[in-house]
Amino acid sequence: MQLKDKVAIVTGSSLGIGKAIAKAFGREGAKVTVDYRSHPNEAKEAVEEIEKSGGRAIAVQADVSKPEDIKKLVGKTVEEFGRLDIMVNNAGIEEKKPFLETPLETWEKVIAVNLTGVWLCCQEAAKQMVSQGGGGRIINVSSIHEEITMPTNAPYCAAKGGLKMLMRTIAVELAPYGITVNNIGPGAIETPINQNLKENPDQMKQLLEEIPLGRIGQPEDVASVAVFLASDAASYVTGSTYFVDGGMMRQSGSL
Ligand code: BGC
Repeated sequence: MQLKDKVAIVTGSSLGIGKAIAKAFGREGAKVTVDYRSHPNEAKEAVEEIEKSGGRAIAVQADVSKPEDIKKLVGKTVEEFGRLDIMVNNAGIEEKKPFLETPLETWEKVIAVNLTGVWLCCQEAAKQMVSQGGGGRIINVSSIHEEITMPTNAPYCAAKGGLKMLMRTIAVELAPYGITVNNIGPGAIETPINQNLKENPDQMKQLLEEIPLGRIGQPEDVASVAVFLASDAASYVTGSTYFVDGGMMRQSGSL
C-alpha cells in the first residue's frame, strides 16, 4: 500500500476522473474525503465503493468556488481523520461556445471553478499542512489545454493555462514546508465532461486519429499517476505537469 494512513481530499470525486482517483487512493490505504457539489447519490456510492474495498471515506458537499465551502471541506476532513496530507484539486467545468458569442457570465463561471476554486483549495489545504507539519502533497487536475488551444473553449483554456503558473509558483513557495505541488494534464478521457462524444461518432473518429496510442483514456489512467504523485516515490517531484494523453500533444498532424 503506497498511501497507508494518509488523509486525502479529492474535489469533484463523485464522478469521472475524481472518483477514480478517490477509489485508487482508498485501495492504497488512504482515508479519503469525497467532495461533491451536485451529485449526492453518486458521492454516497463512491464512499460505499471505497469502503467495500477496505478503505475509509466520507462525503462532503462543497462548491470549490465558495471560500466558506472550502473551509468546511478541509475542516470536516481534519475533524474526521485528524489531518490532511494530500489535496487533489480535480473539480472542473467546461462550457464550449465560440469566443465571439461567449457571454461574460460563462467566462466568470468557468474561471471561478477551474482557477479561483483551485487557488482557494490550494491555500486552505496548504495552511492546514503547514500548521500540522510534516509536509504534504497538492495535485491539480489540469488538462493538455494548459498548453494547447481548444477553439470554442477559451475560458477553460485560460483557466488551465493559469493553473500551470499557479502550480509552478506555489511549488516554489511551499517547498520549504515539504509540500510538493504538481499538475496532471489529462487528454481525452472518457468521463461525463465529454459525454457528447459518444453521441457523435464522426467527432470520436476524428479525435481518435489525433491520439497516437489510438484509444480514448480511462479515468484509471489518470488515477495511477495521481497515486504516484501522492506517494513517497514522488517525494523529489515538484513544480511540473504530468501529461496523461496517449501522446495527443505530440501529434503533428503530418504524415
Ligand atoms: C477536455 C475534453 C477534451 C480533452 C482533449 C479535456 O481537458 O475537458 O473535453 O476532449 O481535453 O481535448
